Amino acid sequence: MMLIKLGGSVITDKSQYRRFDKDAVSRLCREIAESGKQAVVVHGAGSFGHILAKRYSLQDGYSSKEQIPAVAMVQHDVRELSSMVVAELLEAGIPAVSVPPGSCFVMDDGKLVIGDEEPIRSLLAMGIMPVLFGDVVMDRKKGFGICSGDQAMEALAEMLKPEKAVFVSDIDGLYTSDPKKDPDAKLIPEVTEEVLKKVSTEQSVDDVTGGVAGKMKEMLDMCGNGMECVLINGTIPGNLQNLLEGKEVKCTVARAI
Ligand code: IPE
Repeated sequence: MMLIKLGGSVITDKSQYRRFDKDAVSRLCREIAESGKQAVVVHGAGSFGHILAKRYSLQDGYSSKEQIPAVAMVQHDVRELSSMVVAELLEAGIPAVSVPPGSCFVMDDGKLVIGDEEPIRSLLAMGIMPVLFGDVVMDRKKGFGICSGDQAMEALAEMLKPEKAVFVSDIDGLYTSDPKKDPDAKLIPEVTEEVLKKVSTEQSVDDVTGGVAGKMKEMLDMCGNGMECVLINGTIPGNLQNLLEGKEVKCTVARAI
């Protein structure tokens, strides 16, 4: 089974509040369907979550009652986004159901804890694809917190032991330096702790690479037990399907050694 995260930057326009990219999502859902692989999809919140969450500092937990309407609003917005993603999966012929992360996870001081595996396991047993997403989730210590799609991926990987965890983003993978500034930047096809240490110390001043290196670190922490984590560019048609089908794709693979 494949665990796939559709990043917020691929499924929405991150600069505009609640702007869904229907064409991109529809194509990616068709690619998943055509690969014939069993999958669980997690999607990011993009501009349906980040804009309001940042404005009201929801990631820091409860600090004032002004945040409460924003908590409800973000939950509303990401549910609408999730319905749109599910609509595209259904259109592609995949029976899928949106599962709000709060129905199976709780947070404890910012850490995601699996509360109840049953909603997900029972959907899978019926041949239905559970679709999770980045959301506001209640936190035992902080009142509430942000559960990112990446945190949901980590929890699901632990629970479902997928063959691969695929992170679909708008970049090709991790580069030796920022490809937007350095024409000699090279894509790193395989990342280990050693490689990452070198890249992140050399590139620590750079925001773009720093961000990707941070993501790679999370991916490295996640892999193990034979599971690999892959970062691919989902804006290139065919990339996701080729990867799922085991074909050669430009990407960065994180491997624990
Ligand atoms: C963020 O989820 C969740 C909220 C802001 C509510 P992600 O961190 O997974 O979303 P993207 O992929 O960066 O958009």
